[in-house]
Amino acid sequence: MRGLFAPVKEETTAYEMAVTGRIPEELDGRYVRNGPNPLGVDDPAAYHWFSGDGMLHGVRLRGGRAEWYRNRWVRSDAMAMRLGEKILHGPRHLDMDFAPNSHVTRFAGRLLALVEGGSLPYEVDAELDTVGPFDFAGTLPGGLAAHTTIDPDTEELHCVAYCWAWPYVQYLVVGTDGRVRRRVDVPVDGRPMMHDFSLTERHVLLYDLPVVFNPGGVGVGPSFPYVWEPGRPARLGVLPREGQAADVRWLEIDPCFVFHPMNAYETEDGSGRIVVHLVRYERLFAKGRTGPDGAPPVLERWTVDLRAGRVHRERLDERPVELPRVDPRRLTLPHRYGYAVLESADSDLRAARFPGIERMGCGLVKYDLERGTSEVRRFTSQGGVGEAVFVPAGPDAAEDDGWLLAYVHAPERDATDLVILAARDITGEPVARVHLPVRVPVGFHGNWIPDRE
Ligand SMILES: [Fe+2]
Repeated sequence: MRGLFAPVKEETTAYEMAVTGRIPEELDGRYVRNGPNPLGVDDPAAYHWFSGDGMLHGVRLRGGRAEWYRNRWVRSDAMAMRLGEKILHGPRHLDMDFAPNSHVTRFAGRLLALVEGGSLPYEVDAELDTVGPFDFAGTLPGGLAAHTTIDPDTEELHCVAYCWAWPYVQYLVVGTDGRVRRRVDVPVDGRPMMHDFSLTERHVLLYDLPVVFNPGGVGVGPSFPYVWEPGRPARLGVLPREGQAADVRWLEIDPCFVFHPMNAYETEDGSGRIVVHLVRYERLFAKGRTGPDGAPPVLERWTVDLRAGRVHRERLDERPVELPRVDPRRLTLPHRYGYAVLESADSDLRAARFPGIERMGCGLVKYDLERGTSEVRRFTSQGGVGEAVFVPAGPDAAEDDGWLLAYVHAPERDATDLVILAARDITGEPVARVHLPVRVPVGFHGNWIPDRE
């Protein structure tokens, strides 16, 4: 609730923002990012960052100009009431009412704010105003997920949904007509938190890890119902894309937690192996529920050997990173490059300002996973560097020929810049900095929503 995490108190609309540098003309669309921004928290000590009402922050780019910035709360019923507005009636799952705070994506012509755990996504319009909860024309059995993958080949949406009330997790495929066309309920024990999944050309990977639903369990402080369960086995499930629950192969792995895989793909050497790049935590919510704790999260390469039934782990970097992304055209396919936020813990100032927060985003890393090299761009030692989204320069541009877009806090004006970096020159000066009139609190994920697909 404090410092760069502090929620903003109002919705802002600003036009024609000042820009340092030059916005590429090819960037014709909107950059939109979601994150928690609670309104009306009764007891800040009990507030958990993951549970704050979602607020979208968007910047409209066109013709080399930054036409507007908007931040908008997602109007769940509770949020509409708090703002003194009419409730937007719509479908619900298990009577849950939550303003999605985790991600935003466009699919089947609709812009959707996303969250996991069982409540529905919300549709918003081109100016980020809420349309209402969305259940894919009644075809969505429960909630959706924070993380979805749009297969660049078929353009279908895939995800794994989970819910505290379900003794299974649910693999979903939504067709390009916007209707759920496939659903596989995979039984799991103990209601694990499954924040993301991986998709390859032929398989779906399920991360069944020892963070489980336990609202009454040990741990004091903020109310968040998931906690580390010591001794619980960890396993990776491998489901053929068109398979059923009985076809899942479960491979035992070392206990850990994974919020975010970067990408996964089938090897092309005929060995039948799957490669996953991901950010791995040794432990999560083991000491308390305030947030990531324990050893810092690091980038690893997992090689899944289906014949031997083993997962081989390889650490690729010692530095803490999070929020990994790739070129969306390479999702499910072999990729050479990846991007992530570099977290840093080297600031006493930060420790003083955010007790309990061990690390904050201070820079961006570009990985060349083929060569095993990386480049780093540091922005600030005080945190406030958000997820970087890669936008290709054109439909046929090479894998790293494009731009990285990220919200970066500018401490000198206590406001946020939308920073645009050339992905081939991340150590160079940003191509452009769009100076937003307000601060964008530290948040989660976003996407570039082009005007033309
Ligand atoms: Fe996430």
